[in-house]
Amino acid sequence: MKVWNFNPGPAKLPEPVLLQIQQELLDFQGTGISILETSHRSVAFDKILFGAEENIRQLLKFTSDECQIIFMQGGANMQFFMAPLNLAVPGKPFVYHDTGYWSQKAIAAAKEIGEVWRIKTFENGRFDLDPEYETMQKYLKAAYEHITSNETIDGKRWRYLFDGRFTPPIVVDMSSDFLSRYFRVQQCGLVYAGAQKNLGIAGVTVVIIRNDMLKRNGLHPDKFHCYRTHLGSRYNTPPVVAIYVLKLMTDWILAQGLDNIQDANYQKAKRLYDYIDGSGLYENNVHEDVRSVMNVVFLLKEGYEELVNDLLEHFEDHGLIGLKGHRSVGGFRASLYNAMPIDGVRALVEAMKEFERTH
Ligand SMILES: Cc1ncc(COP(=O)(O)O)c(C=O)c1O
Repeated sequence: MKVWNFNPGPAKLPEPVLLQIQQELLDFQGTGISILETSHRSVAFDKILFGAEENIRQLLKFTSDECQIIFMQGGANMQFFMAPLNLAVPGKPFVYHDTGYWSQKAIAAAKEIGEVWRIKTFENGRFDLDPEYETMQKYLKAAYEHITSNETIDGKRWRYLFDGRFTPPIVVDMSSDFLSRYFRVQQCGLVYAGAQKNLGIAGVTVVIIRNDMLKRNGLHPDKFHCYRTHLGSRYNTPPVVAIYVLKLMTDWILAQGLDNIQDANYQKAKRLYDYIDGSGLYENNVHEDVRSVMNVVFLLKEGYEELVNDLLEHFEDHGLIGLKGHRSVGGFRASLYNAMPIDGVRALVEAMKEFERTH
């Protein structure tokens, strides 16, 4: 039976990428050794590292005169601390848009470092920004503004990224939608994203930092927690295999074209939302303005809640896995990252229809 993996991360990889890993596993490009055994100081790894950086620069159309790419470990969770530590400015607070679970975690971390202004964004379910935000923009200069471009658990996203409404610099947690759509990275002071959703496997976090932000001394973090230490991505032994897979994933995205990936992602999500909106059994309570394209959350309508486990079983019987909602919100979640083809969404919709018919 064909299995469709809707896990929120680590998540599905494209078949051609898996096949290439398989083919190269025992002998990495004629080196006679596996990538699993390859030194981070080898010529073979140089090519992977520089190639992965070049792919990201090409996809987002920027140069090293503008921003630097750093591959780090510690996940987005470490960046929740690194960002405020490195970008703090004496006397200026950090502004954080509170849009859901992950931004709240970022806020909690920043609060350990300094003063945080929390702006409740999407509060009414819509894209409206908190009126407090406009007042804040007029009177307050923040060290930076932080947004979570896609809330993986709440199924919400910033539809319009960086359209001039922000007071720069902005810091963006893009863990669950990095390279799923184009954005102007030069408009961000700092962007960070774990690779395990749209870019490969767990173990590496992509950090893109604008050159002017690199000059900030922040709160004089210790050497290890200073971004400048990690330029070149080899201060400590980097996760060679995760960077290798990231290189393959970005090759794959380049071959598809980021515009096409973006369009395909939109079509996949639309298909699922359209079905849910017309259904008598399922519902999605996120306002259209802020619905996520990556993570579609849904519930069973009132009166049918006791069918949750039956539906999960039904999905498993149809080879549809990873659909259980996050423990903090319950319900269901279909993660439709770059590697999920439209056929996976079709299979999901068919199974949902069948369950609706029989219940
Ligand atoms: C938006 C967002 N931010 C942060 C994280 C945490 O990432 P990590 O576990 O790599 O630290 C996640 C993980 O799912 C996420 O989706």
